[in-house]
Amino acid sequence: MVNVPVIAIDGPSGAGKGTVSQLVAKRLGWHFLDSGALYRLVAQAAKSHAITLDNVEALETLAAHLDVQFCVTDDDLPVRVILEGEDVSAAIRTEEIGNDASRVAALPGVRAALLERQRAFRVPPGLVADGRDMGTVVFPDAEVKIFLTASAEERAQRRYKQLKEKNPNVIFNDLLKEISERDKRDTERSVAPLRPAADAVIVDTTELTIEQAVERVMAVCEQRLGNLH
Ligand code: C5P
Repeated sequence: MVNVPVIAIDGPSGAGKGTVSQLVAKRLGWHFLDSGALYRLVAQAAKSHAITLDNVEALETLAAHLDVQFCVTDDDLPVRVILEGEDVSAAIRTEEIGNDASRVAALPGVRAALLERQRAFRVPPGLVADGRDMGTVVFPDAEVKIFLTASAEERAQRRYKQLKEKNPNVIFNDLLKEISERDKRDTERSVAPLRPAADAVIVDTTELTIEQAVERVMAVCEQRLGNLH
């Protein structure tokens, strides 16, 4: 929808995009699009229907007909994701589904099938969109474009801390390898590769706390959109 402002926040896995984008959306009272969740949902649906990741046609059909609801609760709980009537909020956050998501995301037909679904999130008063191609492909006319990044080591370290709480056997070097492989796949794919839009502001969060990253992003937004308080 034209005239509804969009803040596009792109960047690699683990840069803090999800948390920062949600906090910015909350501060502004704007809607939030977690576009990665859509690719994760295609991967999850493929798994539950026993569709292998080389079955491109079936994956495209799945993406075009995803039966999904995002349930926003009015407290601080994360959005609940319901796929075909089942709560998959936790299931889609595993490393396995993340890696599968990055594979299905490389398929042009899957990306095309999800395009309009993403654009439908652009409703008043505004949208904060989190992903890899928000500023380049999905919302090229976004008023604000941020490329949020951090070193691969720092991103692996953050993921390690998160996972270690649940699984003491998690290995840092395995995570670093997975993150580097996913970066490579996301940046080298032929369709909508991960890269900053020409007019994006790059925010490196390697040395920043979440609060500092949110402040930095809010400052860029205010510069572009005027006073947002
Ligand atoms: O952001 P998240 O880690 O949930 O995304 C999972 C995968 O989905 C990414 O590794 C990426 O391959 C893909 N993705 C994408 N385009 C987006 C969002 C996510 O290709 N806009």
